[in-house]
Amino acid sequence: MALAIILVLLVVGSVLFHFLSPWYLTPIASNWNYIDDTLTITFIVCGIVFVAINFFMAYCVYRYRYRKDRRAAYEPENKRMEWWLTVFTTVGVIAMLAPGLFVWAKYVEVPDNARLVEAVGQQWKWSYRYPGADGILGTVDIRHMDGRNPFGMNPDDPNGQDDVLVNGPEIHLPLGSPIKMLLRSKDVLHDFYVPQIRAKMDLVPGMITYFWFTPTRAGRYDVLCAELCGTGHYTMRSHMVLEEESAFNAWLATQPTFADTQAVKVASAGGSLAEQGRQVAESQGCIGCHSIDGSPSVGPTWKGLAGRTETLADGSTVVVDDEYLMESISVPNASIVAGYPPIMPPYQLDEGEMAALIAYLNSL
Ligand code: CUA
Repeated sequence: MALAIILVLLVVGSVLFHFLSPWYLTPIASNWNYIDDTLTITFIVCGIVFVAINFFMAYCVYRYRYRKDRRAAYEPENKRMEWWLTVFTTVGVIAMLAPGLFVWAKYVEVPDNARLVEAVGQQWKWSYRYPGADGILGTVDIRHMDGRNPFGMNPDDPNGQDDVLVNGPEIHLPLGSPIKMLLRSKDVLHDFYVPQIRAKMDLVPGMITYFWFTPTRAGRYDVLCAELCGTGHYTMRSHMVLEEESAFNAWLATQPTFADTQAVKVASAGGSLAEQGRQVAESQGCIGCHSIDGSPSVGPTWKGLAGRTETLADGSTVVVDDEYLMESISVPNASIVAGYPPIMPPYQLDEGEMAALIAYLNSL
């Protein structure tokens, strides 16, 4: 009897929790309400089955409870019930799977007029590329990737010269027209996910994956990585700003093209040494693991770094000077600060980049 009551309470509690819970889907900001519909159908089917099975169990536990004068009957076969269960299960499974197939058909069919945008993932940051005025993304190759060319742009491809490169923490997109998001990873599996868009897709090293959506609701949303990609996975975040076409165009015009970035580097201009160092830190992805405001992260914070005394993993201490910083950048695992895992990859910066980065670190 007690067990039957517990089962009933469990069901009632779960249903109440669902209706009273404050955790609902975020307002949708794309055309993918089909995905919400599929989710709802699956949820309702599972919910009905959950309630029915538990009530049935509670009923059986009570109805067929132990009595001295009663014995269980042996009934190895019940054709009618088997048919019944087969049909019921089949209908339930079809109801859950069929809508997904219709949505998938829409999902893989990108509208012809979709604009191209590329998201590039690396441990542990996002960067973005737009095709520029010609509407064509330039070719890329891992062989071209270095500190000056983090996107691996082919310098000889005329289509790539006007590509707009966004190394900052935001992607902007215009409302109302379909977007084809191309996804590329520099290292391991990642997954591009904006909950308000609903659609998501893995990034797989060595191939270009994609999905499409039409932004419908203006706002600033979190971009997450939804595939465990290492210690800093949770810091792999960015923002997606959906806005009117005019605001989008104004923002895009402030971002550098590939040609711009190369010209700046050649002239070695672009602000003070520390400002150049900040750009190096951003393009190398350092800020994915090192905060500049003192907040804890994967690696030690950069706030007040210069002159600080750090305790190393072997118990010795070191005063952070330029020499120690240089070593920590090129051979990170030589002296690990106590309490941090030895996971930072070595960075090969040229002399100018190194000097700029050190100047930036000393300025914090
Ligand atoms: Cu990238 Cu998780």
